[in-house]
Amino acid sequence: MPGGVPMHWMVKWAGAFPLFVEAASGATFTDVDGHDYLDLCLGDTGAMTGHAPPATVQAITDQLQRGITFMLPTEDSLWVTEELSRRFGLPYWQTALTATDANRFSIRLARHVTGRKKILVFNWCYHGTVDETFATLTEHGIAPRRGNVGPPVHPAETTRVVEFNDIPALRRELAHGDVACVLTEPVMTNIGIVHPEPGFHDALRDLTRHFGALLIYDETHTICSGPGGYTREYDLEPDILTIGKPIASGIPAAVYGFSERVAERIRSRLAVDTADTGGIGGTLAGNALSVAAMKATLQQVLTEEAFDYTIPLAARWAAGVSDVIEEFELPWHVTQLGCRAEYWFCERHPRNGGEAARAVDHDLDRYMHLACLNRGILMTPFHNMALISPATTAADIDYHTDVFRECVEGLV
Ligand SMILES: Cc1ncc(COP(=O)(O)O)c(C=O)c1O
Repeated sequence: MPGGVPMHWMVKWAGAFPLFVEAASGATFTDVDGHDYLDLCLGDTGAMTGHAPPATVQAITDQLQRGITFMLPTEDSLWVTEELSRRFGLPYWQTALTATDANRFSIRLARHVTGRKKILVFNWCYHGTVDETFATLTEHGIAPRRGNVGPPVHPAETTRVVEFNDIPALRRELAHGDVACVLTEPVMTNIGIVHPEPGFHDALRDLTRHFGALLIYDETHTICSGPGGYTREYDLEPDILTIGKPIASGIPAAVYGFSERVAERIRSRLAVDTADTGGIGGTLAGNALSVAAMKATLQQVLTEEAFDYTIPLAARWAAGVSDVIEEFELPWHVTQLGCRAEYWFCERHPRNGGEAARAVDHDLDRYMHLACLNRGILMTPFHNMALISPATTAADIDYHTDVFRECVEGLV
């Protein structure tokens, strides 16, 4: 295996080698050397449910005995669709295996129904390995994002990019009339958390409607805001919504939902005889195992009560970190989004992806991550984010505060 790992992102940890996992349960895991860790990374949201939640394990164990995949629906899909509609307010749903695919399929549908070529994303977004989204703003215009491997075409051909919270730029770019959809997280999370400013989502909705572009919210990470994601929490009105990762407790599964209006436009332009060759779907998508895992996750794990428990714990994590920052008079700050929180090595919170990218300090990141790891805490390898699961305890949070203080003390 190149780098000694089965997927090359797994080398991206602080330290000379990644931990190999022996077993995980709830908020903790044990490595092959027998060391125990508190997991605040949780598979970068894939295990936001906590590891191996009993309800999901039971449901998939039962389903395994009854078959894994048929390319036929099971009745669980009816319950899952109704629940997704209830949570996110969109009536129609389809499945994929990854959030990347949910986004790719949504973009294709948006192009298909609008007849337009381009998409619009915000600078330093991340939506999975979707070609059109690997574009950044530079002083010379749109460029392939750093590290972009083998882009099929220059991203300026497929993509318009503006900074998050920049309404005039959004209006200017949409006015070209060639944008099929805007794809965005409701709050940016992948260059660190960047919150929308008051009025930003209203303007985004108005402008996309005005210029005939569909609005796609990717809730894969922002589901941390509540059971219906940021969309439900703040009454947003997407045309399409995508979500993957934790939706089936980490069993590969993703979904994308769309409005009645989008469904009508799709219906009038898709035919049964080409349903399997149109570039949307996949043999294993909607398989019985994934759907059983989604049902268990939505019904018993990522429930209303779970968020009532995890969001205050994230606030406790943020308060602990904030107290230490104050105690040592550091020019840092902390921010929270539902059951996720993170600290930044700057005083003023970035208002867009460009500012956020400039605020990153890789050396400091690596120091904090490695110092935490040596004290039994795994942080997300990208920036300084902690995610709280229903299995995380107040004692875990307070342990992190102690460790954080010790790491900062060592630093200053
Ligand atoms: C917001 C968002 N969307 C989509 C994805 C892609 O998820 P996956 O890699 O499971 O396809 C990610 C991955 O980090 C993400 O953060």
